Amino acid sequence: MSMRSPADIDRLDAEDPLRQARAAFALPDGVIYLDGNSLGPPTKKALTRLRATAEQEWGEGLIRSWNDAGWFDLPQTCGAKIARLIGVDPGDVLVCDSVSVNLFKLAAALKNATPGARLVIDRAEFPTDVYMIESLAALLGPGDGPPILIKSAIDFRTAAIADIDRIEGRTRAQGGVVVWDLSHAAGLLDLRLKARGARCAVGCGYKFLNGGPGAPAFVYVERALADTLRQPLAGWMGHARPFDFRPDYAPAPGVRRFAAGTPQILSLAALDAALDAFDGASMPDVETKARRLGDLFLEGVAALGLPCLSPPSASRGGHVSLSHPQGYSVMQALIARGVIGDFRPPDLMRFGFSPLFLRYADAARAASILEDVLRSEQWRAPHFADRRTVT
Ligand SMILES: Cc1ncc(COP(=O)(O)O)c(C=O)c1O
Repeated sequence: MSMRSPADIDRLDAEDPLRQARAAFALPDGVIYLDGNSLGPPTKKALTRLRATAEQEWGEGLIRSWNDAGWFDLPQTCGAKIARLIGVDPGDVLVCDSVSVNLFKLAAALKNATPGARLVIDRAEFPTDVYMIESLAALLGPGDGPPILIKSAIDFRTAAIADIDRIEGRTRAQGGVVVWDLSHAAGLLDLRLKARGARCAVGCGYKFLNGGPGAPAFVYVERALADTLRQPLAGWMGHARPFDFRPDYAPAPGVRRFAAGTPQILSLAALDAALDAFDGASMPDVETKARRLGDLFLEGVAALGLPCLSPPSASRGGHVSLSHPQGYSVMQALIARGVIGDFRPPDLMRFGFSPLFLRYADAARAASILEDVLRSEQWRAPHFADRRTVT
């Protein structure tokens, strides 16, 4: 149990500068959602927008909506909103494709631009990043020149925050470039990427940005660098003038050249609306609250003695990873009690603390439910061990 009294926790919620943000979300009753780091929940505005985009813009506007409803510009409209969150210029972020595909395009463009450049990734990075970079290296050949380093700003297992300044400085001194994977960091950390000299990044639209299942990802490339790059999936949407229908390819200025095919409008509309949940939220407040929620939860489960793989709060992102030999079953038992987190092999239970919609009371309650599930051994019920596809 938490050492804090219910009155202490009520005070934390009452004094929370982000306390109004929860009202923007459509959350089911009886659920404490600790998986916004995997799939953010819908905002009310996103649900309304999806319906309007389908019924009015598509249903009534038909093809006219490409111009009239701003469909054509949505990848950049959304990009500009994400740019504010990650601290870069509004025109330098484009929303398109998945993280995997954006990473492939960006790393290939960087490798082609620097003869002999060497792709570098730690095998403990998120698997899709490792697969993509290894297959790209097989396609383009090895190198022994400056590094193109692919690095997560927040580790997906432990939530450890990378030392962005040190890694940027070291890589730049070697003549290289870092491609940051911001999947677990965008919409959570006060990243201020431009001020810190970061020139390239990719990231997820469906985690802390709440864009919905399979929401398109984003790619950031600083304008001056982007203008020197040729990405390999040169499609018509990345052309400077796609509706000229010319056979010769001329890349659009800046990051827009990273578009390939037609944007996914329904998904983009949901993401565009969802991003408005950040209006009025300061990123330092968001970052601080994530830490405090995680700390409160850890305080509440300390007596259980579960090993914690996440670092202390000063260098921890938005989730907390606890290990338990039967972590999968324990998580299923928690989900049955309305506390939704997730599981990563071999034995990690991940609890995500999304600052926009969670209250301190939720973190404290989740801790006491975990305590109850373990002490009562509810998780031993055999059906909790049945492995589903998505864990
Ligand atoms: C660090 C990281 N990179 C990439 C991805 C997946 O990217 P996508 O499915 O958009 O290719 C994830 C998904 O969880 C992730 O955590």
